[in-house]
Amino acid sequence: MGQYIIEGCNRLGGTVKTQGAKNSALPILAATVAVGKPCVIHNCPQLSDIDSTIRILRCLGCKVQRADEMVFVDAGNLSQRKISDVLMREMRSSIIFLGALLSATGEAVISAPGGCDIGLRPIDIHLTSMRKLGVHISESHGEIRCTCRRIKGGKIVLPFPSVGATENIILASVKSGTVTTIINAAREPEIVDLAMFLNSCGARISGAGESTVVIEGVERFNSSQYAIMPDRIVACTYMAAAAVTGSTVVVDEVIPSHITPVFSAFEQAGCRIETSGKQLRITSPERLKAFERIQTMPYPGFPTDCQAIMMAVASVSKGITIISENIFENRFKHIGELRRMGADIKAQDKIAVVNGVEHLQGAFVNSTDLRAGAALVVAGLCAEGTTTVEKISYIDRGYAAFAENLSAIGAVIRRKDNL
Ligand code: EPZ
Repeated sequence: MGQYIIEGCNRLGGTVKTQGAKNSALPILAATVAVGKPCVIHNCPQLSDIDSTIRILRCLGCKVQRADEMVFVDAGNLSQRKISDVLMREMRSSIIFLGALLSATGEAVISAPGGCDIGLRPIDIHLTSMRKLGVHISESHGEIRCTCRRIKGGKIVLPFPSVGATENIILASVKSGTVTTIINAAREPEIVDLAMFLNSCGARISGAGESTVVIEGVERFNSSQYAIMPDRIVACTYMAAAAVTGSTVVVDEVIPSHITPVFSAFEQAGCRIETSGKQLRITSPERLKAFERIQTMPYPGFPTDCQAIMMAVASVSKGITIISENIFENRFKHIGELRRMGADIKAQDKIAVVNGVEHLQGAFVNSTDLRAGAALVVAGLCAEGTTTVEKISYIDRGYAAFAENLSAIGAVIRRKDNL
């Protein structure tokens, strides 16, 4: 499972480049199955979740080649419509192959997806939406068999702006020859990236990034080359690393408009943020001030994926910060690990109250999920002494070259893999 070993309280400095967005790359790679023509995806981060996606593509019969951040996919000759339970369980976004397979073949045999244990993470909105599109779904012995001669289109009102369900509806209806309208769609930038990729292949999707998305299904697609947008959550993570170490760091490859919900928290904490094009400079004070209140919401609200990371920042910010996690019902597992480091945090239900301490202490801590692991690394950077973060395979799901990038800006961090 591997460890990160961190010597805390080192000033950082210099420039760190953000990777391509994991939560864009995963649905876009799945979307190549619906496109069915050779596609080249650039700026694709080297992550274990991307490896899992490539395994699924190959099991479906796609030709896939990879060179660093470039992935070539040709899904022109699918040989499978079933994804094994083992592969489905490797990550949450395996569920996005449902819509893509239905578009490509009219059939998909899947099971419940895996993903970080941050809640029950049901797929009821996905399946209800597919049924509204005319998909016949039967479930038995854990297998979910989906068939559809022709997607019927129409209006789908989502009970919650689910990112994955929005992506699945887009992928299922993109090739249908009818018009599908999603009401209360997720507005995350990753939805926009997916729509832009599909439109670059000849799809006709409008309104992505807004609450109403209209998909005019087309009969055929063309090949495309597409570059994944920068990862907004990873960008916030590097900003947090600078903030907790009183550092000035330039984060390169950022789209500032994607992370404005987090800017105000950093600015309330006393950081100065200057942006220029795709670069951002964060200048941090010696001691951060509490940023009072964070409430995770669907985009453009405060991103749930930054909650753990900003709790690590709040742990050393003078004063009281109240954090409410409104998206997932079990996304506070990092609190126990932060408390091992001396953090003063109390939690009940979906509310956590953080009383910032002067210094955290280095300790042995466990990553409980992807973003919790990243939060513990951030905490280790400002803790007195040595912090050993265990189970870093969680972090590998979403952070490419994490230790290398942090070391390059002055962090004392090394990776130790258990052979
Ligand atoms: C995506 O997950 C992201 N993952 C998550 O990032 C992110 O936290 C989440 O969106 C919210 O922004 C990927 O894109 C691969 P949802 P997703 O459907 O699609 C409930 C990370 O760290 N729900 O918007 O699974 C669900 O349980 C990961 O990179 C249902 O009840 O999120 C949750 O409470 C973690 N039924 C809420 O909606 C459904 O059918 C939001 O889920 C679907 C979702």
